[in-house]
Amino acid sequence: MAKKQPPQTKCTELVRTLILQKNDQKEKKNKKRQILVTSALPYANGPIHLGHLVEYIQADIWVRYHKFIENEIYYFCADDTHGTPIMIAARNQGITPDEMVQKTHVEHYRDLSGFDVDFDNYYTTNSQENKELSELIYGELVKKGHIARRPVRQLYCEKDQLFLPDRFVKGICPECGAEDQYGDSCEVCSATYNPSELKNPSCSICGSSPIFRESDHLFFKLSDFHSFLSKWLSDPGRVNPGVRKKMEEWLNSDLRDWDISRDGPYFGFEIPGEKNKYFYVWLDAPIGYIASAMNYFNKTGNKKLFDQFWKTEDSEVHHFIGKDIIYFHTLFWPAQLSGGGFRTPTSVRVHGFLTLNGEKMSKSRGTLIRAETYLNHLDPSCLRFFYASSLSGSLDDIDLSVTEFMTRYNSHIVGNIVNIFSRLCSGISAKLDRTLSESLSEEGKALRKTLLDSVESVLIAYEDLNYAKAVREITSLGDSINKFLTDREPWNAVKHDPEAARQILTDCLASGRILAGLLKPILPVIASGVEELLNLPEPLLRKNLEWIFPPSHKIREYRHLAARVEEKAVSAMLDEEKERIKSAAKKDEEKDENKNKKHGKKMSETSVDGIITIEDLVRVDLCIGKILEAGYIDGADKLLRIVLDAGEGKPRQIFAGIRIAYKPEDLVGMLVVSVVNLAPRKMKFGISEGMLLAAGEGENLTLITPHRNAKPGDRLK
Ligand code: MSP
Ligand code: ZN
Repeated sequence: MAKKQPPQTKCTELVRTLILQKNDQKEKKNKKRQILVTSALPYANGPIHLGHLVEYIQADIWVRYHKFIENEIYYFCADDTHGTPIMIAARNQGITPDEMVQKTHVEHYRDLSGFDVDFDNYYTTNSQENKELSELIYGELVKKGHIARRPVRQLYCEKDQLFLPDRFVKGICPECGAEDQYGDSCEVCSATYNPSELKNPSCSICGSSPIFRESDHLFFKLSDFHSFLSKWLSDPGRVNPGVRKKMEEWLNSDLRDWDISRDGPYFGFEIPGEKNKYFYVWLDAPIGYIASAMNYFNKTGNKKLFDQFWKTEDSEVHHFIGKDIIYFHTLFWPAQLSGGGFRTPTSVRVHGFLTLNGEKMSKSRGTLIRAETYLNHLDPSCLRFFYASSLSGSLDDIDLSVTEFMTRYNSHIVGNIVNIFSRLCSGISAKLDRTLSESLSEEGKALRKTLLDSVESVLIAYEDLNYAKAVREITSLGDSINKFLTDREPWNAVKHDPEAARQILTDCLASGRILAGLLKPILPVIASGVEELLNLPEPLLRKNLEWIFPPSHKIREYRHLAARVEEKAVSAMLDEEKERIKSAAKKDEEKDENKNKKHGKKMSETSVDGIITIEDLVRVDLCIGKILEAGYIDGADKLLRIVLDAGEGKPRQIFAGIRIAYKPEDLVGMLVVSVVNLAPRKMKFGISEGMLLAAGEGENLTLITPHRNAKPGDRLK
């Protein structure tokens, strides 16, 4: 029989609730934070360069800091694989987009790992998980009425059969008249405009003149999320103050609908329920964050954790991005997530851009240094340290000044922190049988306390992304240890008082160990070298920083921890990149020349005196065509519009100057000879895609027709 419970008074109930609440708080305080970190997904159509690395290294340091204080943290990334530029880059290389994406995936992962960026999963947006998640989120948005449909007029290249993104149209700037400007903005006068305003637009892939074509697009109604976004932004810690200001401006003006569909051909996911429509790359790209996590948690058999991260707010999700993609991450993305039934990010952490010696990095000038080139000449630790010492959590740009880059590392890392270990452990410790003292001296204890007293403030600096502050504190602690060392001159002591030298060694290493721990998120390789050198029983973590060497602890032989950066190596890196750009430009030129030759733009030498070779002749593609339609053109008194079947499946349109000699109705069904590899010509009424052969003048003009038994597509020989 159950024991009868004593009746509970109101008072004990209250006490019980208070105790429970307190326990709950305590539990929460002691509970490890569960954190998911992402950095923006690099486009798969180009290599990783030093600009990208600002972000991957910034996020990696934060992740490593959380591992150091033992939170549960995951770092996910992927390649951003979809879109027109990737499709075209693949075409240019003569491979399929899938092949291209696989190739760059290997290269990207190799380069990022080369800088000790340690992802839990580096995936791809071109995955089954991402397809399903994109369809799921889109489906939810449709269901809830957040998707609209309306026609869009866009430039279309008939030759490439492609809608052209703004960046793939070039022409004359409508503002300043500069030639060779992009469809959306002018690099000479900085004007921004619509591609329709650009004068003499041409397709930057094939050079032909694009036309305007209208088609239905799908739009995400961002304005439906106005109040949600205002609320999301008002929660503390979402973004840094500079970003908050920008977002407030955007929220105070109109939130425009976002065009999320592209017509095929397009490399991406087809939109369910639509014909030949694909998700615009930016719709599925951030969903790639979720897909990368899903792939990882499925692989590691932890589906519950996936739901916890993406379906509940019990955990944290932080995105690291550059300042060029704020709009996508702070407006579209939270709205997409909220509408799609997922949790929204805890924070979006924005960094500035990298410049080189005060200038914007430029591919054509060879100053956009690739990660691979860097690694051919320099130590990744050096860049990690330079970025850390330049990053303070703000939106400010970072300048990679070559001299600063060298001197900072050489003086703060090699000359200061590494110096402590190399001075003590290369010569002195060997003479002392690499054995430490029984305990610390009073002075040694005081030094150690100085370091321990600074731990919290360094950790807070890491938490706040103020790595520059963490670096300042760490190097100043390094100065203290170096001073302790220099004042006591163990290299002299070891000659006449080995025990005194042993004490100095022990005191300095006890503090040096803490220093290496504090530096670990930034320079994990050097820190692990110290762990090995000091023969530590466990890797350095926040929780074991107070640990002390057991009496007579034996350390290992000194192995090189870091070397000075030499100017020679930096110059060699810069030269390699410039050389590469030069030889790539030369190759391009050769390619262009070949292309021109193929298209007959350049004639062979013999053409000078009017004689051509047989090669010149066969370059002209002459073939039989059947006239399907013929008609007059408003405003053109010499031309007729001909629709010609040249046996290609798709008929061509040709504007022929034969109106004077032919009536349209007499032409339909006639077999004629046409030039089919003539560059398309843009005319007032549309594109003319070829030429009909004719002879004679005026009313005597006659079309050349085959004598017998010819059919559309037959070649002339
Ligand atoms: N594919 C998109 C991101 C999609 S995220 C769902 C993209 N890719 S990117 O390759 O152009 O850039 C990747 C990240 O690197 C972005 O956060 C971008 O801001 C950052 N950086 C690219 N060049 C940079 C510098 N020169 N300096 C600092 N960061 C730079 O955007
Ligand atoms: Zn084209």
